[in-house]
Amino acid sequence: MTRVITYGTYDLFHQGHYNLLKRAKELGDYLIVGVTTDNFDLERGKMNTCNNVMERIEAVRATGLADQIVIEEYKGQKIDDILKYNVNIFAIGSDWEGYFDYLKEFCEVVYLPRTQGISSTLLREERPTVNLGIIGTGSIARRFVSESENVTNVKVVVSYNPNQDENKKFCQDFGLIKVADSLDDLFDSCDSVYIASPFNTHYGYCKHALLLGKHVLCETPFVLRKQEADELYQLAEEKQKILMVALKTAYCPAFCHLFSLLKSGIIGEIVEINTSSSTIQEENASKQHGGSMVEHACFTMLPVIKLFGVNYRNINFYSKTYNGIDLFTKAVFRYDHAVASFQVGTGVKTEGNLVISGTKGYVYVPAPWWRTDYFEVRYEDQNKNKKFFYPFVGEGLRYEIKDFVSSVISNPKGTSKLTKNEIMCMVNVQEQYLKKENLFEL
Ligand code: CTP
Repeated sequence: MTRVITYGTYDLFHQGHYNLLKRAKELGDYLIVGVTTDNFDLERGKMNTCNNVMERIEAVRATGLADQIVIEEYKGQKIDDILKYNVNIFAIGSDWEGYFDYLKEFCEVVYLPRTQGISSTLLREERPTVNLGIIGTGSIARRFVSESENVTNVKVVVSYNPNQDENKKFCQDFGLIKVADSLDDLFDSCDSVYIASPFNTHYGYCKHALLLGKHVLCETPFVLRKQEADELYQLAEEKQKILMVALKTAYCPAFCHLFSLLKSGIIGEIVEINTSSSTIQEENASKQHGGSMVEHACFTMLPVIKLFGVNYRNINFYSKTYNGIDLFTKAVFRYDHAVASFQVGTGVKTEGNLVISGTKGYVYVPAPWWRTDYFEVRYEDQNKNKKFFYPFVGEGLRYEIKDFVSSVISNPKGTSKLTKNEIMCMVNVQEQYLKKENLFEL
């Protein structure tokens, strides 16, 4: 029996893919198709795939041509697969001519004719473009525009800042086609907005945008009151628009994989989570930002709420305040069968790592854990310890932008990486803190 193997991403499955699989199948009796995982694609710089790995596998399966489907997760796997599956022929499209000759040591290598005039790249380019407006032109907005250039089907076209000098400079620096001199002017020129203004303006801008039927990506902290969050989500639902919170860690490959690994029981039952985040700020800057909880808590709450859920029994806060601003806060969540805590600081420096402890082992994510490309799973028997590495390209904002754009274009239900319930829970914690519930001053 002649066994043939071929690999691909198979994004937006098209006739070229079908022809290739058919030709590959005709080379032998048994066809194995390798489909790249989302992480592997990100690692090799392919970050604009529209279909996730399950959808891409399904598309290959639906052809009925594959006798076996395997997932391709790492560089060098092709040799391992060829040996493992006793492969006789490695087949791939002629766009790779010569590239895989190194596999000739292990099996026959065949370059098959590529179908002209079609590719996933072309199909992605044919999808609509999201015209994005930016409200607020500070440092995060600057990073956002640069990062958005790495995502297809999105163009930042306009920005607004009540300070028109800053706004003009921003538009000029990034070559935006329009400088909005009013909010209405901004909304007239875009179909979606990224809100990167000071936190206490988020509610007003989100509401205005949604009322006008714009999709919204809002920086953290989204809002600090449950009633406001409720109202905004309801509005988004009524208008059938995407309302997404730009908590970048939630969309990053390392964090997403860590979450799936932990859910699969890699360290047993999780009993404790502890995490920190801090940036020492000038007194005045701190006042403008609103303190440690406002600045950092969304990030530190993320692993807690993702892993333990939204139903905590209670939460206690311990704060060191100065002039009404918390320079440092420690929060302790009590869940039915677990406990979690975090430390945040704008006037106290803490270690910025994340430790998740379970009945079989623990996970250590070094500082700054919220932009990690690496973590370790550690056990009693150190020989079993495992290190995981991931891409974290640029500022890491491109992952949230990618998810926002694909939600706007093709997934009206929105991303599952950070749900409405999880955001509502974060807002609830912020509100409890604002109301000084269970707050102990240090
Ligand atoms: N392929 C082909 N004809 C095309 C497009 C792809 O024969 N018009 C082949 C590739 O050579 C490869 C397989 O299909 O063997 C999977 O390719 P993949 O990279 O997933 O598809 P592309 O359309 O080339 O994707 P992209 O545009 O993102 O590079």
